[in-house]
Amino acid sequence: MNEPIVVDSVTALRAQVRDWRRAGLGVAMVPTMGALHDGHISLVRIALERADRCVVSIFVNPTQFAPTEDLDKYPRHLARDLDQLRDAGAHLAFTPGVSEMYPDGFATKISVGGPSFGLETDFRPSFFDGVATVVAKLFLQAAPDCAVFGEKDYQQLCVVRQLCRDLDLPVEIVGAPTVRDAHGLAMSSRNAYLGAAELETACKLNVILRRTAAALSAGADQAGATDAAVKALVSAGFRKVDYVAARTSVTLKPWQRDRDGRLLAAAWLGTTRLIDNVEIPST
Ligand code: PAF
Repeated sequence: MNEPIVVDSVTALRAQVRDWRRAGLGVAMVPTMGALHDGHISLVRIALERADRCVVSIFVNPTQFAPTEDLDKYPRHLARDLDQLRDAGAHLAFTPGVSEMYPDGFATKISVGGPSFGLETDFRPSFFDGVATVVAKLFLQAAPDCAVFGEKDYQQLCVVRQLCRDLDLPVEIVGAPTVRDAHGLAMSSRNAYLGAAELETACKLNVILRRTAAALSAGADQAGATDAAVKALVSAGFRKVDYVAARTSVTLKPWQRDRDGRLLAAAWLGTTRLIDNVEIPST
């Protein structure tokens, strides 16, 4: 496998993409914050199926972290990430520093409505402004034909789709299935924070969500089923549950039985916040 080209400036990124375009090659992008795991690599594989060249951005985006959150301790393993990208066949890693993305005087923020409302935003009010702003910048910098995002961050995927639709960004957004470990735990860079006992409890999030989604699709009362899920998570050992909510798949408005649904949750294990979601099977 070839080493990926590594660039940390927008100018170098644009020059490379321009060369590929002149050669008639299509470009796919996988935006990441690094600390890559099998979930990210599955996105790279999908990108490579869709385009001739795959750009992976690695940037721990400060604007999507609240001052109380884990920006400083967020795992950073650039050398290991680049090895994984080489093995996966990615062509370019874009690794800008903070001053490249947010130079002195930077003063713009993109705020997406629609699917941003509620869920994560109730607990992380500036999160999607930070995500939308950096994703828009990455798309304008790399000008990819398509970009792949994991369904693990389901609300983020809906927000990015809305962003592209509203701003006419010519990037096809591809949603990719969540990659899970053998026990059903969704892969996440933040799983690295969990100790052995917490990892065992963490797996129960998906079990409880799947059980609740099955009950909902079998006709269970929505409020009753989601309350029961919150109680089950607390009994399983989660310290606090931010939400368990059934939503309509694309808009993320409250779920109605005749629509495709998604059950989303965020819950705390010690000081680590986990999110997950499952489809509500239609009957
Ligand atoms: O999902 C992530 O890793 C980040 O939110 C993203 C999309 C790379 C933006 O910083």
